[in-house]
Amino acid sequence: MGVLDIRVEGDPVLRQRAKRVRRVDGQVQALIADMFETMHAANGVGLAAPQVGISLRVVVVEIPPDMDDEPGAGVKLALINPEIVRARGEEIGEEGCLSIPGFVGMVRRAAEVTVRGLDAQGKPCQIKGKGLLARALQHEIDHLDGVLFIDRVEPGTLRSADSPERELAATPEEASG
Ligand code: NI
Repeated sequence: MGVLDIRVEGDPVLRQRAKRVRRVDGQVQALIADMFETMHAANGVGLAAPQVGISLRVVVVEIPPDMDDEPGAGVKLALINPEIVRARGEEIGEEGCLSIPGFVGMVRRAAEVTVRGLDAQGKPCQIKGKGLLARALQHEIDHLDGVLFIDRVEPGTLRSADSPERELAATPEEASG
């Protein structure tokens, strides 16, 4: 399949609670491969299955390796049925979303999270992240519950991105997913 269409705000699939994956099979693995391709094509750092029209609890996150100040730089992961089991601290940072092109805003998130789920092979796994990785995990897991960053944006901080290219760029200040 390859690069999939990214659904944008107003598409009802983005507001549904996604279903748990019952069995990690070839179809789910193909979806994950397509989600990585789609995310790369859009220069995002994360993507959730509902954003490509599939209402299943699957997310991918990839923090570019060249982000020197990011503790999660170089992390690439797919998570199935992810759950935040621990959250610590608080951080406000700028976010964008591939499903809300052209906008960014400040969002308050936990500074550090531990997430449990299944990996692409269906094996239980646990990921601990802070910084952009923690932010991306929380943003993507929100998508599985039909929550968009504009629902959480700090009042008065939603604004047009400087340019569409910048909004889609994976920078620490503007995590698009
Ligand atoms: Ni998003």
